[in-house]
Amino acid sequence: MNAPNPREPIGVIGTGYVGLVTAAGFAELGSDVWCIDIDEAKIEGLRNGIIPIWEPGLAELVEKHRGRLHFSTDIADALEHARLLFVAVGTPPTYSGDADLSAVHAVVDAMPPSDTHALVMKSTVPCGTGESVQRLFAESGKDGFRYVSCPEFLKEGSAVKDFLHPDRVVIGDDGDWAGDAVAELYAVLDAPIVRTDIKSAEMVKLASNAFLATKISFINEIANVCEETGADVIEVAAGMGLDDRIGPKFLKAGIGFGGSCFPKDVSALKQLAGNSGYHFQLLNAVIEVNELQKRRVIAKLQKHLGSLVGKEIALLGLAFKPNTDDMREASSLVLTARLQAAGSHIRAYDPVAEEEARKLITGAEFTESAEAAVTGADAVVIVTEWPEFGELDLVALADSMRGSLLVDGRNMLDPDRVREAGLIYEGVGRPSAGGVPAPAV
Ligand code: UDX
Repeated sequence: MNAPNPREPIGVIGTGYVGLVTAAGFAELGSDVWCIDIDEAKIEGLRNGIIPIWEPGLAELVEKHRGRLHFSTDIADALEHARLLFVAVGTPPTYSGDADLSAVHAVVDAMPPSDTHALVMKSTVPCGTGESVQRLFAESGKDGFRYVSCPEFLKEGSAVKDFLHPDRVVIGDDGDWAGDAVAELYAVLDAPIVRTDIKSAEMVKLASNAFLATKISFINEIANVCEETGADVIEVAAGMGLDDRIGPKFLKAGIGFGGSCFPKDVSALKQLAGNSGYHFQLLNAVIEVNELQKRRVIAKLQKHLGSLVGKEIALLGLAFKPNTDDMREASSLVLTARLQAAGSHIRAYDPVAEEEARKLITGAEFTESAEAAVTGADAVVIVTEWPEFGELDLVALADSMRGSLLVDGRNMLDPDRVREAGLIYEGVGRPSAGGVPAPAV
């Protein structure tokens, strides 16, 4: 099975965000791709062109490459046609904060002995996973199976673009054919390829996500201090970002980070360090700041509304960020729970995440538009910065509300425009009328 690169056929195990984008991306680069998933309904849907996730450009790419994308529930199909099997199964956090590797282990167990295949790990796994998989292979007479760590850095909402234009591709391997084959597959992309050992590649992924999460918690703390001092965090971030060593990205203050990666990976790295006896102090703070940040919205509402009992609160946006329907670790989840506990009634609108949100949020009223959500509301909270919220007719919004408070949890609106419409504006780390709320925990 010595297929010529760069059109080497590949297998992709797991058809979630990472797996499906990887599959469609490699199909775009010219490979035939065998996509495997244990979920029969999902595979049947994919065969019929039904994409189980909302990701810009993905449906089009899958449709474009229907001829190259093969969907199956049988790993044997991938093994027959491809020597590189990209693993993109879920590694959710366990109760202890460690990564749950049971799906990865199921894939390892399902592999037959082979001298011509390699697992290419895309799923985010703790540093040391490659070594333990290799040990499992050795113990079960499969030591001919090669292993490559090739962490994924794509962002939801721009995943297809990120696959085709990565900042870098990291490949960790033992110096055998498999690492070279993976490098060859990515060589057509105009991106630096970092070749390293397996453990370092695993660590690049965890350290990158932990660093980005730290950057967000840092600017959120600066924002909180800005609220105390009257400075504007947007001005502060702009001034900081011009320093090359800092850079302008990931300095947007808000009501906390969420998603399938940051919360899980930060806690997995903290746990990984802890398991080996090292107390990663900084990450504890990053996590705690993020939790408190979501709750500060409650104090801002209380500052203006007093008791929240019986109040109608409109939440605009529910997904953990715009351009996705992903609700994992979304700030809206904590917010709805806290507001409901405080006695408020929630009216929520999200352009695409309603279906996912309904699975996780009970007792809220879901509306078909932002306008419907805000009608009769005592306060409006922008939770996710969907671009359409920037286009809202603020005068009409103010007219339709019962109250006049707008909490801009993502600093997406111009405070002056909001105030001109007759509303009270509360952003994150921006000057506001009437002093500073104490955080409600
Ligand atoms: C992230 C990493 O960026 C990506 O490299 C990795 O592969 C997976 O995790 P993703 O979770 O899709 O990607 O989202 P991202 O756009 O990075 O945002 C993560 C969270 O941080 C969101 O909740 C977002 O609202 C928040 N965020 C981001 C901020 O609050 N401020 C910022 O400046 C940037």
